[in-house]
Amino acid sequence: MTIIKTVPQSVQWNETSIKLLDQTKLPLETVFVELLTIEDVWDSIVSLKVRGAPAIGITAAFGLALAAQSYEEEFTLHEFKERLLKDKAYLASSRPTAVNLVWALNRIVASIEEAKSVNEAKTTLVHEAIRIQAEDEEICREIGENALDLFKDGFKVLTICNAGSIATARYGTALAPFHLAAQQGKNLKVYASETRPVLQGARLTTWELLQSGVDVTLITDNMAAHTIAEKGIDAIIVGADRITANGDTANKIGTFNLAILAKTFNIPFYVAAPLSTFDVSLESGKDIPIEERNPEEVTHLNGSRIAPEGVQVYNPAFDVTPNELITAIITEKGILQGELEVEIRHLFET
Ligand code: MRU
Repeated sequence: MTIIKTVPQSVQWNETSIKLLDQTKLPLETVFVELLTIEDVWDSIVSLKVRGAPAIGITAAFGLALAAQSYEEEFTLHEFKERLLKDKAYLASSRPTAVNLVWALNRIVASIEEAKSVNEAKTTLVHEAIRIQAEDEEICREIGENALDLFKDGFKVLTICNAGSIATARYGTALAPFHLAAQQGKNLKVYASETRPVLQGARLTTWELLQSGVDVTLITDNMAAHTIAEKGIDAIIVGADRITANGDTANKIGTFNLAILAKTFNIPFYVAAPLSTFDVSLESGKDIPIEERNPEEVTHLNGSRIAPEGVQVYNPAFDVTPNELITAIITEKGILQGELEVEIRHLFET
């Protein structure tokens, strides 16, 4: 089945470079940039040319594999691995909250444990990065199918940010059920919250869902409560950047507000995420590092200043929704609900 053919794949491996959809230019321009060096990769992640936890991980995996191709010919395997670890740490420093970044980097470094030569290691790194991307597509499709079971025909569902096809290998996490529903002729109505400060909801989610033929309506973030009340929103679904052992979930700033609204209005609040977004080494959300970004994202809109010079700015990119506000976490392995801490422990024990 071919789905969302019109939404381009955001990360493409090109043997000697990475072709990346520049998400900062969307929806006005569909522009691809070519990443040739590890610095290009780091910069693209920091500047949000690529964003969304799984897509960041995929890009970093390709980025490390790309960097390794140009290491000195004379390197011993030991020197090769030492240099790889340095480059891995550099890429891992690009964004602190989405754990998929470190997960993907750890995975491709682990893939060369058994390598017998530098050449074998170089090839293995590329193959592992390709595998991570291919697996993510399949995982997102499974998440979409599991999520779709929760939405009845005609449901109105609110989402924030962009946890969609371009934030993953394909389909997305929170947006996967909408792409699948459109394909299957199931009628879901999506309300997309614009997601200040950098407007991933307004710019990316609406662009992506329109291309799939999904019924999508844009609202500003401060319209959420009124919209839930007036339009009869049936459920809220969001993505995740890191889920701790107890189910606390970091996601785009504003997610926590929506979870509180869901409780007030007594509607389900769903988190959709792959297993690679879980960080069971952390007990609770208090331990999640929250990225703070450039104040200009708040003081400026589209490059134009909207706030007075010199004003103090607080710009956290993510917030943490406590587990008790989450109705269920939808993964590729099924739906976790009830005692999330217990469910997560079982999931990672098996
Ligand atoms: O700052 P961003 O755009 O990278 O934040 C993205 C999100 O918060 C997404 O919801 C999350 O990464 C999941 S993407 C499938």
